[in-house]
Amino acid sequence: MTEGPGPSIGNQHATTDFSMKSLTFRNQDVMPALGLGTWKSAPGEVGAAVREAIRIGYRHIDCAAIYGNEAEIGAALRAVFDEGEVRREDLWITSKLWNNAHKRQDVEPALRQTLADLQLEYLDLYLIHWPIALKPDADFPESGEDFLSWDEAPLTDTWAAMEACVSKGLARHVGVSNFSRSNLDRLSEGASITPEVNQIELHPLLQQNDFVAECRENGIHITAYSPLGSRDRPQRLVRDDDPVLLENPVIGRIAEKHGAPPAQVLIAWAIGRGTAVIPKSVNPKRLRENFAALQLGLDPSDLDAIAGLDKHFRFVDGAVWTMEGSPYSLTDLWDD
Ligand code: A2P
Repeated sequence: MTEGPGPSIGNQHATTDFSMKSLTFRNQDVMPALGLGTWKSAPGEVGAAVREAIRIGYRHIDCAAIYGNEAEIGAALRAVFDEGEVRREDLWITSKLWNNAHKRQDVEPALRQTLADLQLEYLDLYLIHWPIALKPDADFPESGEDFLSWDEAPLTDTWAAMEACVSKGLARHVGVSNFSRSNLDRLSEGASITPEVNQIELHPLLQQNDFVAECRENGIHITAYSPLGSRDRPQRLVRDDDPVLLENPVIGRIAEKHGAPPAQVLIAWAIGRGTAVIPKSVNPKRLRENFAALQLGLDPSDLDAIAGLDKHFRFVDGAVWTMEGSPYSLTDLWDD
């Protein structure tokens, strides 16, 4: 994977500053390690949550077109800027390209729609949401007919269009989400910008240590999604015997030892290993609680205990993309 032109590329390396709790990009732009997740934040709630989060001190907001709430987030951001609480340049805003806009000609219009909804002139980071392509009229697949294969919508084409968005100043940085090692390789053939971030599911039950280390060696920052175990995930993703991460007894014991809530232990663990992390909440008390995790330091014995929890368990397993008739398999998605 090679570095290429564009405002995000210099001869500096991507670095992670553990003490400052931020991740620095190759051009020295800085992403705060702790961000607000907005997946599942309902319209009617998300705007107030974003405003409250910014009041508390969050400066990184993670969005996506498919969450269906970007217009309300945009109105909240507009109000925050108009009232002078923060300036645009004080915030790090990420969004994601949905699966039904992977065709080369559909990428920029999708980004422009997100920018219009968010009432922004540029994104700090734009990600390909999944390495899976759908036909333009399908938000989610109802049958195998709704998919486009990698032959029909090559990831390299989608990536070339993402790179063009950087050249046009619509996104400062570009990356991916839910990409395995093989899919990063597939996308990077002929790329001029190395993906700068891979946003993946990560928590103590799914630690992916080797993959995280490998991405870092290749200059790819990692953002951890579903860090609290995503208890409010859609019903289609819930199985009866799924673990409840926030009630894990090992996490509970560590939390008790520090006099901290379990969510703070999970967030502090993610930040301590050098990833960004985007816990979702729409509740003011929990937003505050999660932000205070920046002050929590875990002991080596805590980290040892958490290391023992890894089960390679996914809350978001991608099975929806592998329905009968789909050109994609779970191996295509996760390599395993
Ligand atoms: P709520 O939005 O009502 O606070 P994830 O970030 O892994 O997707 O998890 C989000 C889920 O965790 C939501 O149900 C959210 O509910 C809940 N949550 C967020 N912060 C906390 C917290 N500090 N303690 C308990 N639950 C939390």
